[in-house]
Amino acid sequence: MFWSKSQPQAIDQTLLKSWLELDKERSVVNGRFISRPGVFAWDRIDVASALLAKHFATHLSGTAADLGAGFGYLTAELLQHCSGITSVDLYEAEHRALQLAQKNLLSHASRVPLHYHWHDVTNGLLAKYDVIISNPPFHTQSRMDRPDIGRRFITVAAQSLNPGGQLWIVANRHLPYEEVLVEGFESVKIIVEQQGFKVIAATKSKVTLRKVRK
Ligand SMILES: C[S@@+](CC[C@H](N)C(=O)[O-])C[C@H]1O[C@@H](n2cnc3c(N)ncnc32)[C@H](O)[C@@H]1O
Repeated sequence: MFWSKSQPQAIDQTLLKSWLELDKERSVVNGRFISRPGVFAWDRIDVASALLAKHFATHLSGTAADLGAGFGYLTAELLQHCSGITSVDLYEAEHRALQLAQKNLLSHASRVPLHYHWHDVTNGLLAKYDVIISNPPFHTQSRMDRPDIGRRFITVAAQSLNPGGQLWIVANRHLPYEEVLVEGFESVKIIVEQQGFKVIAATKSKVTLRKVRK
């Protein structure tokens, strides 16, 4: 970060133009998406996300949420593979990524309602869902491991799923998510372990337990 007194006459317009060019939105992944530097895996499909998308069960249906949606890749895959999905709420902390997601998912918007939330997932979600998908962040921009953020995403997902709802996530094999998964879900299944990652599907109990007053 830097700041300066405004001196328009001193601005090197050529340099300014070339800097703005660097940040321009552009087509990536053989034209399938548009993206720009600075967002997660901006010019490629992340290996872990691709593994998760490859294993989405085609019968997933109902209302869905994508936690940490980035430029929209996982939602695009979910909508492509699961025709029973009726809406998707995308939650993302980076506003720039969310703006890209909105453009990348335009072709799906006529089929299902899509809502974009510039929102910190660790504060909880805005509704309940039948399906939640996520490749949760596991480190900060300083690259320091922060498994607590991923664990919080899982807890929030467990609180925000309808009875019988499913969470589909991908995680580095070494990340300690098991305890929080077992706490929040009735069943936890490892769908696949590959390339150092695991895809996990966790299902909420169909029965809601209510506190009974004596
Ligand atoms: C591992 S990336 C996955 C991005 C995208 N879903 C994909 O598969 O390519 C995690 C995303 O979570 C976002 N994120 C990080 N912390 C967040 C938070 N507290 N609330 C919401 N999103 C967050 C990051 O900006 C990033 O886009």
